[in-house]
Amino acid sequence: MNKDSKIFIAGHRGMVGSSIVENLKFNGYNNIITATSNELDLTNQEGCNNFVNENRPEVVIIAAARVGGILANSEYPWEFLYENLMIEANLINAAHQNNVQDLIFLGSSCIYPKMASQPLKEDYLLTGSLEPTNEWYAIAKITGVKMCQALNKEYGRNYISLMPTNLYGPRDNFNLETSHVLPAMMRKFHEAKQAGHTPVSLWGSGSPKREFLHTSDLAESVRFIMEYEGKLDHDLINVGTGKDLMIKELAETIQGVIGHKGIIEWDVSKPDGTPRKLMNVSRINELGWKAKISLKKGIETTYGWFLENQKILKEVKIGN
Ligand SMILES: NC(=O)c1ccc[n+]([C@@H]2O[C@H](COP(=O)([O-])OP(=O)(O)OC[C@H]3O[C@@H](n4cnc5c(N)ncnc54)[C@H](OP(=O)(O)O)[C@@H]3O)[C@@H](O)[C@H]2O)c1
Repeated sequence: MNKDSKIFIAGHRGMVGSSIVENLKFNGYNNIITATSNELDLTNQEGCNNFVNENRPEVVIIAAARVGGILANSEYPWEFLYENLMIEANLINAAHQNNVQDLIFLGSSCIYPKMASQPLKEDYLLTGSLEPTNEWYAIAKITGVKMCQALNKEYGRNYISLMPTNLYGPRDNFNLETSHVLPAMMRKFHEAKQAGHTPVSLWGSGSPKREFLHTSDLAESVRFIMEYEGKLDHDLINVGTGKDLMIKELAETIQGVIGHKGIIEWDVSKPDGTPRKLMNVSRINELGWKAKISLKKGIETTYGWFLENQKILKEVKIGN
C-alpha cells in the first residue's frame, strides 16, 4: 500500500468514516476520495457504478450505512434492511466490476445469533436466530459479509469484512430517538446535571453486558488490515477490546466523568436486548492488532468533544 494509493472512504462524514479519514491522513495517505450522500446516493446503483468507474479507487472502505439504536431499528425495519442492502450491494458490485482488488466492509456484532455462546467467535455466524430488535440491520450486514466472501471465493478478491463491537467517540449521534446507549446516556447525564442533578431514567434493567470500542481504535484496526502484507487467512474479522461490562457500570462511569450527582432510575418496561455481547478478538489480536484506549479515557475525550460541539449539535443533530 502506497501513501498515494487512491482510497475511497464511503460515509466519511459519519462517526466511523470521519475517524478513518483522520487516521489515514495523519498517517500520510494523501489520495483519499469521498462523497457526501447528497453528492452520491449509494442506494442508487447507476450513480454508484459511475462514481467508481470515473474515480478508479484502488481501495474501497465502506463506512456508509443507515445506523441506529434499538428504537430506530424497531421503528424503521424497512429502511434499515433496504438502505443497508442497497448501499452494500451497489458499492461491492461497483468495486468488483471496476476491478478494485481491496475492499473493507464494516459490519457489526449484531450479525451473530442472539444466544450464541460468549465471547462471540466469527465461526458463530448463521448458527442461530438473531436478536429480533435489530434483525433487519443484521440481515443486511450478513448479506454484505456473504457478498464479500462470494467475490473472494469466485474471483480472488481481497474483500475483508470487519465486525466492530459497539463503537463510540467524537461525532457520535446524540439524538435520543436514534442514538446508541453510550451517547444517549452521556446526553441524559449532561442535561440532568445542568438541570440541577435531577434523576436520570435509563432503558432496561442495567444488567446486560456490553463491550465498547473507541472509534480511533477502530480506525487504527482498519488501517492495520488495509496495510497488512500477505494474504489474510480469514475474510471475516471481529474488532473489539475483548472486555465487557454491565450497562449499570457503564452508566456509573459516564455519570462519574460528567459529575452528575442525582439518582439513576432503571425503566424495566423498556427492552434490554441481547443479554451479553462480547467479541472474541483473538483473530485480529493474533494478526498483531490490539485496542489501546481505555473506556474511561475514551468517555472523557468523547465528553470533551460533546461539550465543545454542543452548540452545533443543538442546531444540526440533537434538536431540542
Ligand atoms: N456506531 C456504532 O456503534 C457502530 C458499531 C459497529 C459497527 N458500525 C458500523 O460502522 C459503519 C458506520 O457507522 P457510523 O456510526 O459512522 O454511522 P453514521 O455516523 O450514521 O454515518 C453513516 C454515514 O453513512 C452515510 N450514508 C448513509 N446513507 C447513505 C447513502 N444512501 N448514500 C451515501 N452515504 C450514505 C452518511 O453520509 P452523509 O453524512 O454524507 O449523509 C454518513 O456519513 C456502519 O457500517 C456501521 O454498521 C457502527
